Amino acid sequence: MTPNETLVLGLETSCDETAVAFLDGAGRTRASRVASQEEAHRRFGGVVPEIAARAHVQNLPFLLDAALADAGATLADVTAVAATAGPGLVGALLVGLSEGKGLALGLGVPFVPVNHIEGHALSPFLDGERGSAAPVPETFAALVVSGGHTHIFGFAGRRIERLARTRDDAAGEAFDKVAKMAGLGYPGGPAVDRLARRGHAARPFPIPHFKDGSSDFSFSGLKTAARERLVELGRVFARGAAGGPALREEDAPQALCDLLADVEEAIVAQLLHRLSRLQEAGRFGVLTVSGGVAANTLVRERVPAWGRARGVDVRVAPRALTGDNAVMVAFAGLRRLLSGRLGEGLGAVARSRWPLETVE
Ligand code: KG4
Ligand code: ZN
Repeated sequence: MTPNETLVLGLETSCDETAVAFLDGAGRTRASRVASQEEAHRRFGGVVPEIAARAHVQNLPFLLDAALADAGATLADVTAVAATAGPGLVGALLVGLSEGKGLALGLGVPFVPVNHIEGHALSPFLDGERGSAAPVPETFAALVVSGGHTHIFGFAGRRIERLARTRDDAAGEAFDKVAKMAGLGYPGGPAVDRLARRGHAARPFPIPHFKDGSSDFSFSGLKTAARERLVELGRVFARGAAGGPALREEDAPQALCDLLADVEEAIVAQLLHRLSRLQEAGRFGVLTVSGGVAANTLVRERVPAWGRARGVDVRVAPRALTGDNAVMVAFAGLRRLLSGRLGEGLGAVARSRWPLETVE
């Protein structure tokens, strides 16, 4: 490495993934390591904050060593450190944030606190094949769909506006809850995706509307309606042994696959309905789609197709970067470094809530 070459270290510990990445000044991924804690949380059917924080403490040093080796770099090559400061589980966030601040202080390089949702929103500009990042336009909209978020933001220069949010469950939560009721284990999104491919959507669920005319999302009604249909099928399970699936995917009956196809259709239909409303109001010409649910097969087909029909340039995150990762954190950090917006720098605190629209 030449001495002046930019090398940003990214750290992500907001939830149940420990992640470390290195990104160069052109937005090329030099290393990306993610340790999933899925196994540790599975028997509880959800993420246990205390377990998550401890696992981050255990995993982080090993991931950092491995990522340094992957990048062929040493800590002395690092020119800036970016770490997720929120939103997320405070105990979990503190692990990466403290590590990042300590490293930046020790190395004498800038520290950039990153908003996790900004990381997701920018991830579609990254190249999944480790090429340079695409230029980020001045204005664009971002649909962030994950287990904790279903939001649409408008980015305009330095301003970020929230255009829509979920009033209850997130889209990923809807996938997970339906999967859990069907006995498919946790997290259920990928299982629903696979089984829906074997199903035929035939009985559409209604798209919810708010009387105040807002473009906000709601997925709790879908969860209840899906539960009723599962009861009809005689298939509401609690949990399998040790939290594992009560139902093996290969044993899923056709009627269940059909129902899951209807659930997936309903989620995508609502996303497209809200996007259409905002686009008709002239809110954007470029749209990024990111977060765990952006890995969903139907989302990856339908949102770009919708964009082609409406003349919207839709960028879906590379599949490998849909889930939580540190490449997106390093990239958000790099952009802030380049524009001289380091936020609170070393003074940043871990925030369980940190609305993106409040970030400059
Ligand atoms: O972004 P992410 O890894 O974590 C959060 O920040 O929430 O998103 C995880 C969510 C989970 O709800 C998971 O079930 C969902 O993304 N998910 C999917 C798929 N892959 C992950 N949902 C539907 N289809 C998928 N293929
Ligand atoms: Zn996330």
